[in-house]
Amino acid sequence: MDREFAYTDADFNKVRAELRALAGINLADSKISLVYSRLAPRVRKLGLNSVKNYLSYLETHPDEQEHFINALTTNLTSFFREPHHFELLKEFIQSGEQCERIWCAASSTGEEPYSIAMTLVEAFGRFDVTSKIVASDIDSNVLNKASQGVYPIEKVDPISNKKSFFLKGKAHNQGSAKVVPQLRNLIEFRQVNLLDNQYPVQEGMDVIFCRNVMIYFDKETQVQILEKLLQKLRPGGLYIAGHSENFNHLGHLITPVGRTAYRKV
Ligand SMILES: C[S@@+](CC[C@H](N)C(=O)[O-])C[C@H]1O[C@@H](n2cnc3c(N)ncnc32)[C@H](O)[C@@H]1O
Repeated sequence: MDREFAYTDADFNKVRAELRALAGINLADSKISLVYSRLAPRVRKLGLNSVKNYLSYLETHPDEQEHFINALTTNLTSFFREPHHFELLKEFIQSGEQCERIWCAASSTGEEPYSIAMTLVEAFGRFDVTSKIVASDIDSNVLNKASQGVYPIEKVDPISNKKSFFLKGKAHNQGSAKVVPQLRNLIEFRQVNLLDNQYPVQEGMDVIFCRNVMIYFDKETQVQILEKLLQKLRPGGLYIAGHSENFNHLGHLITPVGRTAYRKV
């Protein structure tokens, strides 16, 4: 294959090992071309001529790690993705359960924490709720995007009560919509690597959303991360996982309460 920069199987394996060490993410063999296309813009920007040279640069420039991770994460998400989880959250609140603190632990570009915030407002029937959401991700680019709360109008259109939650862009902002400040104020964005030993998040969370990120980690890492997350969740608190992240075998830690939703034992 004709490529702008030299790239070998050995480079790909080195990228995989580095990403796994830094973020816990495992890349399948099939991702060899994807990795090249994600890293090529960095190689170009730094004026290098091969992925091998880029990897040497990464080794000697710790600041580059952030760009490396940002380039290689997969950030697919959408508003009210897996809608049953938001219905469950609403029921949880309306049943009278305490729901003051929610952590969205792989928040990507923000659609998930804003969906949580919209659910809170709808469940309580007002914007001035006392609940707070911490939204975190390892990727600083997606956190910046999330924090701005600006989305293409097509992403916002399917939301039923969108007029209450978004302001339509005008003039040069036409085609986009911005989250209203009352909704934005319910969320605090923070950079957290789930691989770290300590999470800079307070204990006693009532609900943790950690969806569609565990799939990137091996089984052993998944259990280690789940145990660390559960240290931050109060007993009886809700733990919400992604559609293909099943923890039914960890009955001593969490009990299933719906489709990939659990309560801390
Ligand atoms: C596929 S998105 C899922 C987004 C959202 N939770 C959802 O279900 O729609 C996975 C997110 O996990 C983040 N991620 C990957 N590894 C991570 C790590 N070690 N710590 C924290 N976040 C991580 C990625 O940056 C990405 O934004």
